[in-house]
Amino acid sequence: MSRVAHPAGPRHADVLPADHPPAPPEDLNALDPAIWPRGARRADGVLTLGGIDVRDLATQFGTPALITDEADVRGRAREYVEAFGDGSQVFYASKAFCSRAVLRWVTEEGLGVDVCTGGELEVALSAGVDPARITLHGNNKLPAELERAVTARIGHIAVDSFEEIARLAYYAERAGVRPRVLVRVTTGVEAHTHEFMATAHDDQKFGFSLASGDADEAVRRVLALPVLTFAGLHSHIGSQIFDTAGFEVAARRVLELAARIHAEHGVAIEELDLGGGFGIAYTTEDDAPEVKTLAAGLRAIVAGQCAAFGLPEPRLTIEPGRGIIGPSTVTLYEVGTIKNVDGIRTYVSVDGGMSDNIRTALYDAAYTCVLASRSAAAPPMLCRVVGRHCESGDIVVRDCYLPSDLAPGDLIAVAATGAYCRSLASNYNHLPRPGVVAVRDGTAREIVRRETLDDLLRLDVG
Ligand SMILES: Cc1ncc(COP(=O)(O)O)c(C=O)c1O
Repeated sequence: MSRVAHPAGPRHADVLPADHPPAPPEDLNALDPAIWPRGARRADGVLTLGGIDVRDLATQFGTPALITDEADVRGRAREYVEAFGDGSQVFYASKAFCSRAVLRWVTEEGLGVDVCTGGELEVALSAGVDPARITLHGNNKLPAELERAVTARIGHIAVDSFEEIARLAYYAERAGVRPRVLVRVTTGVEAHTHEFMATAHDDQKFGFSLASGDADEAVRRVLALPVLTFAGLHSHIGSQIFDTAGFEVAARRVLELAARIHAEHGVAIEELDLGGGFGIAYTTEDDAPEVKTLAAGLRAIVAGQCAAFGLPEPRLTIEPGRGIIGPSTVTLYEVGTIKNVDGIRTYVSVDGGMSDNIRTALYDAAYTCVLASRSAAAPPMLCRVVGRHCESGDIVVRDCYLPSDLAPGDLIAVAATGAYCRSLASNYNHLPRPGVVAVRDGTAREIVRRETLDDLLRLDVG
């Protein structure tokens, strides 16, 4: 890479294929039900969420704000439970978005909760989640986190390194508890997703490699420690996955290991956790499969592979995060400035940005957005929605069409921001992080309070 300054070309951040930008939508005011929360409507042209006018939400709670449709979250949670059916378990991956209210909703719908830090674990415990229905993940769990998980008697701990097996045994012994352990396996499957979202190819930090024999050795060590209960195997191949092909290869490789364990130790795995990663529609170009189709595919894969290896079928667990919370939420922003860069594009600056949605900068994520505070008949204008941070990569929506009469003060809504937006939010440039507002049947309440500048100043104790 050249580090010598040179005159720039005219375009910035064009990473999309040559056929971009896509054609404008037929109706700029339309809300595609595959993308928007189930409770999203237009009433007299204005977007309503859970029966509430977004202008009222903006007045009451300020912008930017993440608005979460509770019925949507509960409905999707129920669909996962129904689709995977008896004998399987669905755990909500709280890293996608972790708040007490959401953890209560999903557990009331029959899900368990998957956490990957002590912080997420405390939210789950303080939400009243049954510890037996919590699994702890993470490639470097702190000793104090392992101790807390053991003493809280959570249901499962997915071990991720040899050091951790020894540390966990130490805390289990000390607490007189015998935790159930899953061994996280790196299957060598590369999910066709962004590099930073793929988690099971060999060259990465998670899990025990199957190819090197580390996974077999990890199981040996867990079985050799009477203070640990070997429950089964775990694999997570990545995120935003649209078909079962990757899961099929991963399941086959994990079950080959299960067959070796059976042959070597006479132990059949009780549990097979195939992780999360089920994709959702962010734009009309995403064709997300129905959950029941995915579920039928995964169950058939596991049944078929177990039959082929002569193994009893383990209990199947899956851990969707995005698939449950992602589509339920939209981010409301107020438009501040509109700058037409002649012959290139129009930049629409909003009152948030990469501090409330880093996914565009991090993963080249694509989003859909609409003018929310009114409908418009004006012709479409190709826009780039950008934030107010001191970074030219501070892009919220790389390419979208908004009406050409868009004006400062209008509200725009970005769809499908429930997963990995608020949970990845930062205070970059000392912007307070936005609140999260739950809407349901015409009522709204903040479930995560909007931060204030005072919150930030209180931390500055120098
Ligand atoms: C172990 C594990 N389980 C589940 C998930 C959830 O993935 P998703 O939100 O894509 O369903 C992740 C995401 O990184 C993960 O690492």
